[in-house]
Amino acid sequence: MTRNVLVTGGGTGIGYAIARHFAEQGEAVVVTGRRAGPLKEAADRIGARTVVCDHTDPEALTRLLAELPGSVDVLVNNAGGNTDFDTDTASDVTSDAASDAASDAAPDLASYAHDFRANLDANLVSAALTTKALEGRLAEGGAVVHIGSIAAARGGGSYGAAKAGLSTWNIDLARTLGARGITANVVAPGYIADTEFFRDRLTDERRTQLVTETAVDRPGSPEDVAGAVAFLASPAARHITGQVLHVNGGALPTR
Ligand SMILES: NC(=O)c1ccc[n+]([C@@H]2O[C@H](COP(=O)([O-])OP(=O)(O)OC[C@H]3O[C@@H](n4cnc5c(N)ncnc54)[C@H](OP(=O)(O)O)[C@@H]3O)[C@@H](O)[C@H]2O)c1
Repeated sequence: MTRNVLVTGGGTGIGYAIARHFAEQGEAVVVTGRRAGPLKEAADRIGARTVVCDHTDPEALTRLLAELPGSVDVLVNNAGGNTDFDTDTASDVTSDAASDAASDAAPDLASYAHDFRANLDANLVSAALTTKALEGRLAEGGAVVHIGSIAAARGGGSYGAAKAGLSTWNIDLARTLGARGITANVVAPGYIADTEFFRDRLTDERRTQLVTETAVDRPGSPEDVAGAVAFLASPAARHITGQVLHVNGGALPTR
């Protein structure tokens, strides 16, 4: 039976690979994003439907509901990214954290709060709002998968904190949805190349470092993440819930 799948942020990178994977399996896929142009171009390539939506905006989510089928089998909360990369505060890539911390100047708390909240909104509140909006429509036996990050375990400032919050919030979600046979899990990628995530901020040196940290000596691909999401949404994974599945080429071994 054809499943209804929603992939948030499905116009580029990891979300696009996830949407393409489901579309190739014959599922009915809806992809969302804020930029109508790139979203439509991507969706046309894979035969998905598009809805322009900012997942941090409750009103936009209410409008999204009107565009979705009455029953949704798979929700992939992929929309997000490190909002610091759109500001001057991307310390994990530019490695300026130490010199920032040494300054005697009074901290600009207003901008700090603004930037911190931007990451929480983009990566945590967006997923919580989207799931809340769709909760009543999730089909029995369905699956919710959030895209977390290796940063949740390693740092990464407010971005890492937001992704860590996603995993913690997911624990209660798994219990709530479990009563209806719906699973809820996080897929936490390490460094994934060929997406818009780093904007133009990833230096060759940092890229080499990220690859060297893996056991397989290569960056992850969006398809690597799509495979993990597809598994968690498959009949084979019905007893896996409340978990974080790491996809990082061994850069962060777990036990
Ligand atoms: N690439 C990596 O190394 C890596 C590693 C760990 C985790 N991740 C996570 O993987 C997910 C996908 O990132 P990516 O690497 O594929 O980067 P990407 O190419 O920048 O994809 C992010 C997508 O999300 C959409 N988006 C962002 N904020 C949104 C919002 N508020 N509402 C709706 N759509 C929104 C973007 O489209 P619009 O701008 O048009 O809205 C874009 O299509 C993110 O959650 C990211 O944090 C990535």
